[in-house]
Amino acid sequence: MPRPHYVAAIDQGTTSSRCIVFDQAGHLISVAQREHRQIFPRPGWVEHDADEIWQAVQGVLAEAVSGGGLEDGQIAALGITNQRETTVLWDRDTGRPVCPAIVWQDTRTDALTRALAEHEPLFKERAGLPLATYFSGPKIRWLLDEHPGLRERAERGEVLFGTMDSWLLWNLTGRHITDVTNASRTMLMNIHTLAWDDDLLAILGVPRAMLPEIRSSAEVYGHTPAGVPVASALGDQQAALFGQTCFDPGETKSTYGSGSFLLMNTGHAPVASKHGLLTTVGYRIGDGPATYALEGAIAVTGSLVQWLRDNLGLISSAAEIETLAKTVDDNGGCYFVPAFSGLFAPHWRSDARGVIAGLTGFVNKGHIARAVLEATAWQTREVVDAMNADSGLDLTTLRADGGMTADNLLMQTLADVLAVPVIRPMVSETTALGAAYAAGLATGYWPDLDSLRVNWHKAAEWRPAIDESVREREYRNWKKAVARTLDWVE
Ligand code: G3P
Repeated sequence: MPRPHYVAAIDQGTTSSRCIVFDQAGHLISVAQREHRQIFPRPGWVEHDADEIWQAVQGVLAEAVSGGGLEDGQIAALGITNQRETTVLWDRDTGRPVCPAIVWQDTRTDALTRALAEHEPLFKERAGLPLATYFSGPKIRWLLDEHPGLRERAERGEVLFGTMDSWLLWNLTGRHITDVTNASRTMLMNIHTLAWDDDLLAILGVPRAMLPEIRSSAEVYGHTPAGVPVASALGDQQAALFGQTCFDPGETKSTYGSGSFLLMNTGHAPVASKHGLLTTVGYRIGDGPATYALEGAIAVTGSLVQWLRDNLGLISSAAEIETLAKTVDDNGGCYFVPAFSGLFAPHWRSDARGVIAGLTGFVNKGHIARAVLEATAWQTREVVDAMNADSGLDLTTLRADGGMTADNLLMQTLADVLAVPVIRPMVSETTALGAAYAAGLATGYWPDLDSLRVNWHKAAEWRPAIDESVREREYRNWKKAVARTLDWVE
């Protein structure tokens, strides 16, 4: 009797790398996870060691296969999904990084992006993105400016650029490629033509010779040394959109990880945002047309809970935030705006810094914990308002996924703040699932999108349970706290 086949997905995230193996019904068969270091050399700087990440990825891949009692031959395809924008430069000959990777949260390019302000309309029109420290282009520019000799080597194609998908594809298959969703986060790709844009490259001073080839999100790029086809790559938020089977225009998901990212499928045409959202590529399957998305990107949500654990020691595990928050009935008048990387959508203010507002002697750590959870909910409300205004549609339900959705108090708070039901699917690992789906489609493991839709099942739902007057009062207070984060950086 032939042994069953599965699809594996590597989810290379901001704080850890995971490998998850799925079966045809989208059920999780095995999982392995390893954390990597967060390096903070100066305030506002965040770095990763790309070599350490590659070691972790190799480890979790082997562990997920062997831990599930499987052999490489049972893996029909391997997909990749990854933290986006994080910028890796490596030497083509040695294959080793030439400097620390600059993480998406890093704000060191603040002055650089402000100096390029006159070009913002062109970036918005061609790349679908505002000028911000978040994206890869300014990070590449900074590295080429700061490291003597690097620009010349990049011009000769000796030093290569890639986001984490490229870095992993390079190590797994020996090819220098990226997928269209990751390329859409660099500020260097024209989202209409899906090709690198010479004008944007010139403004940012990035040599074309260092850039990977842009490919679709689902096709066989090459094979691992064990012979497994590597058949998908998607930025993690686009992968979650795919994993939540948001295949039709208007369908929306929100993923709660270190940051949170709300994406709405807008169909085959890019929709320009007038309210501070990003226009981005959702996915492209093989030779098919690209599907686009509007995105509300929030930099700090789950990482605020980690900060409370690691920097303040108020909790000893992330899960404890819910218990601590439940020791009080409300926020006690206190609001926490975690502008640690400036403010992303819909504000795009890299000069903002975090505040805890409304403090009195009454406030205790329970209130702070509640304000931390509410910060995730109010930041979501801001991007939902922008999404409704941009799309002309009113969000009727929110499909939420990601690690933070295990927190039932957060889910209830989200429903209260958004005034719509919040739904959690059976498989909350939708990021890895989306990469697995794309790899499985590319290799015939799944025949079509309909065969994926039937795998989606609702696990739980939360309904709004507060008065409109309370919701509006709290939202006004939140906005006052947000106003206090601005203009911190000279
Ligand atoms: O754009 C950044 C995003 O891709 C990071 O996602 O889940 O690794 O925090 P996550």
